[in-house]
Amino acid sequence: MSAILQVNNVRYDYKTAQIVTHAVRGVTVEFELGKFYTISGRSGSGKSTLLSLMSAINRPLDGDILYDGKSILSLNSDDYRRANLGIIYQSFYLFPQLSALENVMLPMEFAGTKLKVEREERARGLLSMVGLDERHAKKRPNQLSGGEQQRVAVARALSLDPKVILGDEPTGNLDSENSANIIAILRHLVHEQGKCVIVVSHSSEVCEASDVRYAMQDGRLVL
Ligand SMILES: Nc1ncnc2c1ncn2[C@@H]1O[C@H](COP(=O)(O)OP(=O)(O)OP(=O)(O)O)[C@@H](O)[C@H]1O
Ligand SMILES: [Mg+2]
Repeated sequence: MSAILQVNNVRYDYKTAQIVTHAVRGVTVEFELGKFYTISGRSGSGKSTLLSLMSAINRPLDGDILYDGKSILSLNSDDYRRANLGIIYQSFYLFPQLSALENVMLPMEFAGTKLKVEREERARGLLSMVGLDERHAKKRPNQLSGGEQQRVAVARALSLDPKVILGDEPTGNLDSENSANIIAILRHLVHEQGKCVIVVSHSSEVCEASDVRYAMQDGRLVL
């Protein structure tokens, strides 16, 4: 099968006042639909930065990234993300003034799912899939535990039914039961729905559940 995401010799530096950090130093890798990938590696090795390049949050200084054969560098990054990706961020970025349910509904509102009942029904279904019920749905993020917030973030990433799901430690705050549930959901998305899941994780359970395991070392990707 051909790759849905191709990363070609991509490089990224952060520049602050005095210091340049070579966060990603020439990464080439392909990701296919129907496969579950994990990326592990030390803190500071460049994992989140690599995800930020694939999700067009940062722009590579060198190299190219193709989605479905087309360079993402020429696309509007918001449109690209919305149409193709579900992202579970390392710090969840839930909207604090919205309830859990409203957080999951929001991408559908942006994407133009007109009927509120439709958005609500799908959001409730996704929340229930990650093990959150009606009581959780009404709460705002600061009224939920870290693990519950993380599950809201997972549900939100799935709200537009994206082909590619990118996760940065999506089970980082979960106990083993909830973590196993999220792993099962990710595996289902890959093996039953043909999605491509790419997850940064230190968890051996997550890595063992994946099909292809990469590691980042000092800005480079190794198998
Ligand atoms: N906004 C930033 N400005 C400057 N340097 C940054 C910035 N974000 C990350 N870095 C640096 O880039 C390098 C890679 O960071 P990155 O966040 O990609 O690591 P990571 O592998 O995701 O680490 P962790 O496992 O701790 O999340 C690190 O040296 C980090 O200090
Ligand atoms: Mg990180």
